[in-house]
Amino acid sequence: MSPTPDHAPEAFTPEWLSLREEADGRARATAPLDPLRTHLSEHGAGPGGRPIRITDLGCGTGSQGRWLAPRLAGPQTWTLHDLDPHLLNLAGTRMPRVSADGSTVQARMCLQDLDRVTAADLTGTDLVTGSALLDLLTRDQVLSIARAAHEAGCAVLFTLTVTGRVDLYPAHPADTSITDAFNDHQRRAGRLGPDATAFTTRTFHSLGRRVLTYPSPWRLLPEHRDLTLAWLRGRFRAAGEQHAPIPTDHLRHRVDQCEQRGLVAVVHHTDLLALPNGHPRHP
Ligand SMILES: C[S@@+](CC[C@H](N)C(=O)[O-])C[C@H]1O[C@@H](n2cnc3c(N)ncnc32)[C@H](O)[C@@H]1O
Repeated sequence: MSPTPDHAPEAFTPEWLSLREEADGRARATAPLDPLRTHLSEHGAGPGGRPIRITDLGCGTGSQGRWLAPRLAGPQTWTLHDLDPHLLNLAGTRMPRVSADGSTVQARMCLQDLDRVTAADLTGTDLVTGSALLDLLTRDQVLSIARAAHEAGCAVLFTLTVTGRVDLYPAHPADTSITDAFNDHQRRAGRLGPDATAFTTRTFHSLGRRVLTYPSPWRLLPEHRDLTLAWLRGRFRAAGEQHAPIPTDHLRHRVDQCEQRGLVAVVHHTDLLALPNGHPRHP
């Protein structure tokens, strides 16, 4: 592993990441895979070529790798980045060992703050990816990653970025103000929150890249009660911290609906693929 970061990570528990993994897997857009495969193949990576080299920033327990590695054919070499050593260890041990065509998937772990990732670190990388990460980042962090990835000639895939829109069925008059408070909470301390995809799109356009975006909503049905409850509680807590506490009777009302399997939530996300225009930069 690389050197230890000098500040503590925000806590993302393995339990929370595990609870959301199935919904994440259903939500992830598959449409970026074809342009991504084409790009990789044009750059000599994948079946019949050299191993695909992928860097997963903010990998957590490795959900992105578990989803993506078996959907790409050919040998792969993953670098898993996070600043939480416990999550990173779990990611390393849980990576798939084979790709879509049975080729070998290898992974190494890198305990590093993504702020420190430079173009030199990414040289030779085909794809930089990040899942449920982009909305946590500040403008400066996105600019720095985008410039580094662009200079190194990497494709970039950011998945599951919140858009700020949530649809609850049945709707309630309090939903809008809770969404506004939650979104403001996501923008705390300069984070992009629901502005992340628009900002990242502009950034890559300014670098001359082709940017493709795809919807990737969580569809939380009555049978996904445990995740919906955990998500609802987190949403109410964050909204309450940001503005005024959510009245307990409203919280109770929504929790009751959820427990009685009478609540559906659509939590909108976006997946973003940014591809270099022009000729391959590395063999
Ligand atoms: C919401 S979790 C997503 C984890 C994983 N990508 C997934 O989809 O399940 C965000 C992850 O980003 C990591 N993270 C946040 N800020 C980071 C930073 N500055 N450098 C490296 N990792 C960071 C956290 O430790 C956490 O594992």
